[in-house]
Amino acid sequence: MSAPGQHPDLRDFSGLVVLVGAGKMGGALLEGWLRLGLDPNTVAVLEPLPSPQISALAERGLRLNPDAKTLGHAAAIVVAVKPQAAGEAIPAVAPLASAATVVVSIMAGRTLQFLAGALARPCAMVRAMPNTPAAIGRGITVAVPRNANAAQRQLADRLLSATGAVEWIEDEALMDAVTAVSGSGPAYVFLLAEALAQAGAAAGLPSALAAKLARETVAGSGELLHRSALDAAALRENVTSPGGTTAAALKVLMGQDGLAPLMAKAVAAATARSRELAG
Ligand SMILES: NC(=O)c1ccc[n+]([C@@H]2O[C@H](COP(=O)([O-])OP(=O)(O)OC[C@H]3O[C@@H](n4cnc5c(N)ncnc54)[C@H](OP(=O)(O)O)[C@@H]3O)[C@@H](O)[C@H]2O)c1
Repeated sequence: MSAPGQHPDLRDFSGLVVLVGAGKMGGALLEGWLRLGLDPNTVAVLEPLPSPQISALAERGLRLNPDAKTLGHAAAIVVAVKPQAAGEAIPAVAPLASAATVVVSIMAGRTLQFLAGALARPCAMVRAMPNTPAAIGRGITVAVPRNANAAQRQLADRLLSATGAVEWIEDEALMDAVTAVSGSGPAYVFLLAEALAQAGAAAGLPSALAAKLARETVAGSGELLHRSALDAAALRENVTSPGGTTAAALKVLMGQDGLAPLMAKAVAAATARSRELAG
């Protein structure tokens, strides 16, 4: 398990890292690597529509859309294209993989079996599921390895932890539930902010004020949870006086048809959909 900052830098890394797809997630990873001191000369990016920031990095030595034949073997290949682009993108970089390479895929719903088939050679692989707070270095990624030795796994961990915490699992079947909890989870939290704002407006607040109160409450509570050693239940209990206003609301939210059964249903639906999409 890695927490943010556990691998304080990538300055000592000198192998070749190939990033395939530098959109939202791939771009966040690249930004994290460079923030941790990875030398742009060690990075090759394959991306049909690079952002101006990524194009500018070419002047600092990053190889942008090089001819794959000029690259030699990579220490790591990170696949961050949309799942539907995998069939084209992976075979194009497969020749860059040697026995020492670790191929890291962050594609939702693409299994290790799929990855192995697309690479069409024996490879060390890691399938990972990040989430959108990766964009601000506060994501959580769950990773599952196949055929990866300790050094390959450690390199994958260092690269993935550039956008936040990393948890490792051994059972790939858990990835559907992981997707349903942390992959899709940010949307549930944003919905909470929306619903709280709507409820505030319904209780008589001007809608802009209700939206601001809800947004800052969700953001501030998330930060408090992040920084605190206490778990969520203890933090909740700390703000709940017996017979008070919070207790009145929690009686509703924690009732028989309150938030817990609703969340269980939502996570079950997302888990089932993730299974369906993976085929
Ligand atoms: N966003 C999330 O919350 C999240 C969470 C977990 C996992 N993921 C996974 O992360 C992956 C990337 O998602 P994203 O949101 O970052 O998508 P995105 O912004 O669309 O990024 C994908 C990038 O890959 C590029 N690309 C397409 N075909 C390519 C090829 N053959 N070779 C090289 N690059 C190619 C795309 O270029 P064009 O725009 O020109 O097509 C695009 O810039 C997806 O597989 C997704 O399942 C995302």
